Amino acid sequence: MQLTSTQDGKSTDIPAENGVVRGADLARAGLSTYDPGLVNTATVRSAITYIDGDQGILEYRGYPIEQLAGNATHLEVAYLLLYGELPTPDQLAVWNNEINKHRFVHENVRGIIQSYRYDAHPMAKLMSGVASMVTFYPSARDIADPEARERNIVRMLAKIPTIAAWAYRQSIGRHYVYPNDELGYVDNFLAMLFQSQQLVYRADPRVTRALEVLFILHADHEQNCSTNAVRAVASAGNDVYTSVGAGIGALFGPLHGGANEAVLAMLKQIGSPDRVGEFIEGVKAGKARLMGFGHRVYKSYDPRARIIKKACEDVLEATGARNPLLEVARELEKVALEDEYFISRRLYPNVDFYSGLIYEALRFPPEMFTVLFAVPRTAGWCAQWLEGVTDPEQKIMRPRQVYTGHRERSFVPLEGRAGA
Ligand code: ACO
Repeated sequence: MQLTSTQDGKSTDIPAENGVVRGADLARAGLSTYDPGLVNTATVRSAITYIDGDQGILEYRGYPIEQLAGNATHLEVAYLLLYGELPTPDQLAVWNNEINKHRFVHENVRGIIQSYRYDAHPMAKLMSGVASMVTFYPSARDIADPEARERNIVRMLAKIPTIAAWAYRQSIGRHYVYPNDELGYVDNFLAMLFQSQQLVYRADPRVTRALEVLFILHADHEQNCSTNAVRAVASAGNDVYTSVGAGIGALFGPLHGGANEAVLAMLKQIGSPDRVGEFIEGVKAGKARLMGFGHRVYKSYDPRARIIKKACEDVLEATGARNPLLEVARELEKVALEDEYFISRRLYPNVDFYSGLIYEALRFPPEMFTVLFAVPRTAGWCAQWLEGVTDPEQKIMRPRQVYTGHRERSFVPLEGRAGA
């Protein structure tokens, strides 16, 4: 396939391969693209995650998300994302052990977390805690050294649950719980979050599994807003901590990872299933957004939402927590999926629609919801960071703009300006 550009009577051919035109070929033809939100611009080549938004397909390294969520552990999936293959039993044992060994954080990180106001948002604490790690591991700056890259990825994956749990404990004024070598990744995270007086904290295995599934579903999602932030910061030659810190900042936004917190606030505001119709009318009139609905890529049911909906029902059953908001969510989904406004715009529930209800059933406060997204997404961010910094085609990310401002104005001294 080939495109032809004609300007001032001069024609230039622009090659297109598999429907993709290269920016460099456009530039040679004197053309550029205006693409706010990078809606139709590929910034990288990637072999990590595949999404077919029309069919509702999500695969990590070619494995369907349903199979991974049904069978794997989060650390197995993290290994797959990073190295491209599922680990053998021996490789997994070494990998689990490596991660376990690095779960403790430098004691000064305690001091950093301790210094925040009690009401600081845990995502803000997580972001600065992660960004601070490069001060403890300056070797991470040597991104050309494969060993340094790998060691710091292991540290990143191992320590983020500890920083996240401590960010939470600081808000509630509880002592910090140190990692427990006997517990797996998810169990240990739950213990660091919830252990109180008792010496040994053991989570209900059904709860651990539900969180493990949520971790797998959130582990990667190709070039979303936060991954793009990680890739952009990495493209300037930055280490994994600085890059992941930027990703956490992007995820904090209510249109991205912050949506799960916003969904719960919305469900509480609606209050009961009989008020759903009125709320939907408000959405259609532009007064509110239906949070947890719509996606830039999925134009059909988000496959993660389907798995989460089932996990939500399981967790509510396991914990015996009867949450009336689940009824509101179900009614909201039903009404929206039958409404022409949502049908014509192809808006379906996304990953955030039901996850907040699970987190609430597990007694997490809403401000922790996005943190529970950031911890597992770190696996994907690390894999994407690694792919970016080792890609010989990768250049520093530097988009263009369409300039709309003034040109060539003459400076006016202060006393000569209107109103002076
Ligand atoms: N509620 C109501 N209308 C919506 C919604 C929604 N949730 N989402 C999109 N629309 C409408 C828009 O108003 C627009 O309508 P129009 O054509 O009449 O102007 C149309 O659908 C297209 O929407 P865009 O905003 O252009 O779609 P975009 O791809 O830019 O946005 C996004 C995607 C940000 C996810 C959006 O659907 C949204 O705001 N959803 C709610 C927030 C949310 O759940 N975010 C989590 C996403 S998943 C994740 O990040 C992990």
